[in-house]
Amino acid sequence: MKIAMVGSGYVGLVSGACFADFGHDVVCIDKDQSKIDRLHDGIMPIYEPGLAELVGANVRAGRLTFTTSLAEGIKDADAIFIAVGTPSRRGDGHADLTFVYAVAKEIGENLANDAVVVTKSTVPVGTGDEVERILKDSGTSHKFSVVSNPEFLREGAAIGDFKRPDRIVIGAEDDFGREVMSAVYRPLFLNESPILFTGRRTSELIKYAANAFLATKITFINEMADLCEKVGADVQDVSRGIGMDGRIGAKFLHAGPGYGGSCFPKDTLALLKTAEDYDSPTRIVEAVVKVNDTRKRAMGRKVLDALGGADKARGKKVALLGLTFKPNTDDMRDSPAIAVAQTLTDAGVEVAAFDPEGMELAAPLMPEVTMVEEPYAAIKDADAIAIVTEWDAFRALDLGRVKELAKAPVLVDLRNIYRPDEVRAAGFEYSSIGRN
Ligand code: UDX
Repeated sequence: MKIAMVGSGYVGLVSGACFADFGHDVVCIDKDQSKIDRLHDGIMPIYEPGLAELVGANVRAGRLTFTTSLAEGIKDADAIFIAVGTPSRRGDGHADLTFVYAVAKEIGENLANDAVVVTKSTVPVGTGDEVERILKDSGTSHKFSVVSNPEFLREGAAIGDFKRPDRIVIGAEDDFGREVMSAVYRPLFLNESPILFTGRRTSELIKYAANAFLATKITFINEMADLCEKVGADVQDVSRGIGMDGRIGAKFLHAGPGYGGSCFPKDTLALLKTAEDYDSPTRIVEAVVKVNDTRKRAMGRKVLDALGGADKARGKKVALLGLTFKPNTDDMRDSPAIAVAQTLTDAGVEVAAFDPEGMELAAPLMPEVTMVEEPYAAIKDADAIAIVTEWDAFRALDLGRVKELAKAPVLVDLRNIYRPDEVRAAGFEYSSIGRN
């Protein structure tokens, strides 16, 4: 099969490289000349474990190429994927579909053969209908079908998620669309990955419903964690105790500083907008968005409490370990660390931070924070150390050395990666999430 991937960002590049690895002939297209130049040189635009190797291997095998020309890239393609960004529109939270529609128009104007056009970008219900209208209006004489095929890739684990998915969702309205998509995913089909065929609008909604549900699950356990702290219970055990119930499931019940990233914050907001437009409120999701937003600053206040309260914090120093919204990514989008850092600097605290991959993108988002080269440089002379992201590098800190370097042995663990008894036995004042 010949596949064109329009948009060589996170989703496009991972999907393109994985499709090539299945044996398909893939062209990744992007308007950004410097991005394409760097990809030709083997330089990835994002940090994702295993991606550079996968891209390199498939380029060398001649199955993966890059171009800035959409017309060139889509020539002879059986399936043309639209994998461009759908950021939150400034002001109202609606998904901004400018890029998706511009690409659809360009595809229509340049279509040189029959093809299936697939929206992989996360798009609100009805976007496929609009893409279909745009293609029709372009006056193309070729047969086409517009299909929805949402991605469920987690940053940091995207290649594994693509190759061993829990399910593949395909929203198609005709046999042409279903047949081409079956051929595209045949390698996974043979692997017995479940493929769910639905209508196009249903498929579009599945993506939002999945992310909103996961965001709800996280927010639920985060509120339980707060309650645990008040009543003297342990949220880790609560998670285990409810997660063993097969109806609930153990995953996404890890309490923390609130969800961030490129998907949950933006997709929950976009779902609220769709619900509003269709006069069908989703009040649970409304509450989730509000609770998660307020939680991030509350985490900053938790660190201030560890310093003895906001009024005593001015002039003190805090070491922030971890800045990205989760480990194994350099992504800072909606990371809780931004609100934590802001709350601290607002209170006059001096903040030194270290993150294994995220400092370059973090620096402009927290101009008052000093970025340092390694964790112990941040810890030196700190009045408190706060773990904000659960990178492996922070799981086995040399507590003896930490105690020596820090001004005070105060550890705030916003990801519960340490055991309270062990850290306290090492002489630390320790606070974490949902554990007394
Ligand atoms: C998510 C979805 O998992 C993926 O299917 C979708 O397509 C894109 O959005 P991603 O944003 O990469 O993926 O990260 P994910 O691992 O889902 O974590 C999202 C946020 O939730 C992170 O901030 C993470 O720290 C937080 N989280 C996750 C928790 O706080 N607790 C958990 O138990 C799980």
